[in-house]
Amino acid sequence: QLNVFQTPDDVNRVTSALHGVGRKVALVPTMGALHDGHRELLRRAKRLPGTVVGASIFVNPLQFGEGEDFDAYPRPLEHDLEVLAEMGAELVFVPKVDDLYAPGHSVTVHPGPLGDELEGAARPGHFSGVLTVVSKLLNIVAPDYAFFGEKDYQQLVLVKRMVRELNIPTKVIGVSTVREHDGLALSSRNVYLSEEQRADAAVLAAALAAGAHAGQEGAEAVLSAARQTLAARPQVAVDYLELRGTDLGPAPVDGQARLLIAARVSRTRLIDNLPVLLG
Ligand code: PAJ
Repeated sequence: QLNVFQTPDDVNRVTSALHGVGRKVALVPTMGALHDGHRELLRRAKRLPGTVVGASIFVNPLQFGEGEDFDAYPRPLEHDLEVLAEMGAELVFVPKVDDLYAPGHSVTVHPGPLGDELEGAARPGHFSGVLTVVSKLLNIVAPDYAFFGEKDYQQLVLVKRMVRELNIPTKVIGVSTVREHDGLALSSRNVYLSEEQRADAAVLAAALAAGAHAGQEGAEAVLSAARQTLAARPQVAVDYLELRGTDLGPAPVDGQARLLIAARVSRTRLIDNLPVLLG
């Protein structure tokens, strides 16, 4: 039975009551337009014994920049509620913008320098918007566990860091990226792609896979293998292709690293990343 809540007070009353009787709560924060990537987060949450699984659906205006797709972002609410019910979620928090942001609100979370790199360099203010809404959701729902996808790797790293540094008592769990058969990472924004663009988009995952495959030969080999794959699709405009440490600091000489890419296929901006074992 899926229960829908619109206001912070209403959902908090229920999660507080659940905690009062010793139940644990897991939260999957989303912007809706749910796909198999979101389903995987819900499935992972459902594996926690004795835990009530909840989701939030909120297209957060604070994390969209000028000229980004806030208005166009898909909002198939009926479909999303069906997916949640089908996946066994028991509660969903679906606030309106005014329920989270009172007129004149002005306090935000500052992500630190990592918030201005990679995605943050292309999307000023994006991660401040993400961390602000995530901190609000964690305070409102007070989940024991919160699930985030590796698809948005920088978001996952920053959320983990916020939770640690701001002493938020929620355990953040990262989930591997769910992909289409040709490797394209599932994304709510893939619906913007035409058939031709959809084929071009697969080069992102292919380039990351080629890069990861060259890990033993070192960082330069990883980047050049990825670049070589990208060169086959010059119509895909690469914003960045970077090899970093798993915490998104500088890449180590050997051991675990992360290869990250952002590129535009026509007007649609896509991101992806993969783990790389160096050396
Ligand atoms: P949204 O894009 O809806 O994604 C919700 C969650 O699903 C995120 O943690 C994201 O990383 C994860 N996800 C998306 N595609 C995935 C895939 N192919 N495989 C695995 N996980 C995937 O990310 C956001 O919303 C927002 O920024 C949010 C955290 C809700 C804050 O507004």
